[in-house]
Amino acid sequence: MSRTIFVTTALPYANGSFHIGHIMEYIQADIWVRSMRMAGNTVHFVGADDAHGAPIMLKAEAEGITPQELVARYAAERPKYLNGFHICFDHWHSTDSPENVELSQSIYKSLKSAGFIESRSVEQFYDPVKGMFLPDRYIKGECPKCHAKDQYGDSCESCGAVYTPTDLIEPYSTLTQARPVLKSSEHFFFKLSDPRCVEFLQEWTTGTHAEGRKRLQNEVIAKTREWLGTGEEGSEAKLNDWDISRDAPYFGIEIPDAPGKYFYVWLDAPVGYLASLKAYCKQKGMDFDALLDPNGDTEQVHFIGKDIVYFHALFWPAMLKFSGRKTPDALHVHGFITVSGEKMSKSRGTGISPLRYLDIGMDPEWLRYYMAAKLNAHVEDVDFNPDDFIARVNSDLVGKYVNIASRAANFITRHFDGKLGYQGDTQALQADIQKVTDEVRADFEAREYGRAVRRIMAYADTINQAFDAAQPWVMAKGWADASDEQKAALQDICSRALAGFKALSVMLTPVLPALTARVASELFQDGESYTWDDAVKLPVHIEKFKHLMQRVEPKMLDDLFEPPAVEAPTPGGEPIADTIDIKDFAKLDLRIAKIVSCDEVEGSDKLLRLQLDVGEGRLRQVFSGIKSAYKPEDLVNKLTVVVANLAPRKMRFGVSEGMVLAASHADEKVDAGIYILEPWAGAQPGMRIS
Ligand code: 2FM
Ligand code: ZN
Repeated sequence: MSRTIFVTTALPYANGSFHIGHIMEYIQADIWVRSMRMAGNTVHFVGADDAHGAPIMLKAEAEGITPQELVARYAAERPKYLNGFHICFDHWHSTDSPENVELSQSIYKSLKSAGFIESRSVEQFYDPVKGMFLPDRYIKGECPKCHAKDQYGDSCESCGAVYTPTDLIEPYSTLTQARPVLKSSEHFFFKLSDPRCVEFLQEWTTGTHAEGRKRLQNEVIAKTREWLGTGEEGSEAKLNDWDISRDAPYFGIEIPDAPGKYFYVWLDAPVGYLASLKAYCKQKGMDFDALLDPNGDTEQVHFIGKDIVYFHALFWPAMLKFSGRKTPDALHVHGFITVSGEKMSKSRGTGISPLRYLDIGMDPEWLRYYMAAKLNAHVEDVDFNPDDFIARVNSDLVGKYVNIASRAANFITRHFDGKLGYQGDTQALQADIQKVTDEVRADFEAREYGRAVRRIMAYADTINQAFDAAQPWVMAKGWADASDEQKAALQDICSRALAGFKALSVMLTPVLPALTARVASELFQDGESYTWDDAVKLPVHIEKFKHLMQRVEPKMLDDLFEPPAVEAPTPGGEPIADTIDIKDFAKLDLRIAKIVSCDEVEGSDKLLRLQLDVGEGRLRQVFSGIKSAYKPEDLVNKLTVVVANLAPRKMRFGVSEGMVLAASHADEKVDAGIYILEPWAGAQPGMRIS
């Protein structure tokens, strides 16, 4: 039976660009959504920016812009990432939206009438200079235990002690350096300790939903049992009431009938899931309230990281339940991403920037495939290992999967004019395909993507082995004299391999949507993209095979990692490099170049394409990451300096034959400008610099 499923991913704070962890979560959810849609289910997949909170307010203030402007800036760059990695959200919204104001206030009012809101006076640190209450992270001071200076308000990085801001010796506000004072104010609390809440959460966290599926993974249930107690005597819940209000100045949603009070960002953030769906419904003419009817059939599924389980497994279901709304049906919790077994670290040069990945021309579907191969239904960290990445893409994806088509298709095109033909019974073949497809499809639904990928590759092995064993190249020899049986046998073995290839393409569709859409529309011409039912439909025709997927060049992985951040910054952002001798310098062939023409590069927000005259009687194409600093027309006819003997580099947009020299701060994050080198008057293109 067809299901209707409402799917979200965690809403990213709108004060930073997406990092690889966001992309991993979105890819995980996207694969699931595509797979569920391939089964004929209706899926509404939405996201939004998490716009509110003190950090966003303060960052905007520091930049001299409004929080709305800051949020808009990050919102504007989201599509580049989402489209870049084929992530198919139906709608992307913001928690700073009329829908979210309306829904958050309405949920609050319902909770209040049901007796779940209480107000209490709370004493907290207040910055008298800034005129605001200070979140813990903006308070520092001396550790009360080991006396290390400049420790944060919640714990000491030096000795590990955990405390509250008021325990700090000589506390100060990191915003103004002023000494904070204690001040009382009225706060609103959501009464999580209410017995009705605890009872509901005991049931919700351990229960099942449609078709007996558990709402939570076992390890998540275990965590919630720690928080809630087991329900048995002597193991009572230790839930604290939740402080949901913040005092002005705050960037957030006003609390009804409480002037100067705002919802804490974590109150309105998950409501943003509903707000995004509501805006989407309006766009599509769908009935939002009917869709999320508490007694209706829609399933509500949230993909989140392990760090925000508390909010999603306790606060969020309780908020929904006691405001009379539909509660979530499942949380799909994932771990973090590590690089070669360690936490990603900019300073160790192991940070992966998703944009850099795209900019250097790496195929987004390689990453989707790699992540699929590594993901499972447990709350485990996913390790990105460069060698493993290269091996899986090159040997599995290209070597096993794509290879089947390129080998078999050529025989069919050359000898049978693209027509496939099967000898004898195909039932066994179809039964095999059906079996693997069913298993793979179930793996995707269970979020056991790694297991799905292993099955798919095992099936690819089977197909390759059968193809090799039949030795079609022997059958194709002496074609002019070949008997009809020989011809039919060759057509059969190739057709069976291609039927297998098509089935593999169906199974890989959730992971490789773009590539498999090309397989469907260009190679077999049997649709725009595949559904699960297509796997057993044997193809009858194939177009001439066109190149489907590049192999990863190991060099790309070197380029992928941002250079390590420097430890002792100098004004230029990095200390002077190790000494070299003149022979080392002489290896560099630096030449004067004239910029003959210069254009923007479509699809890149960093690069300009330059045509350079280096005195060789031809022009060189060089890509340079200077778009933020120069307009193309301002560079034409200028002289500059180029590294003329740098090995040509293949980039996403073409080959770059050299590098233009420019000065900038070593840390990309420090915007100190980019400055192209220009020789003094009189220099001629091609002159060597020494
Ligand atoms: O941890 C975070 O990045 C939060 N912005 C996630 C919010 S998820 C949902 F509640 F909006
Ligand atoms: Zn300490």
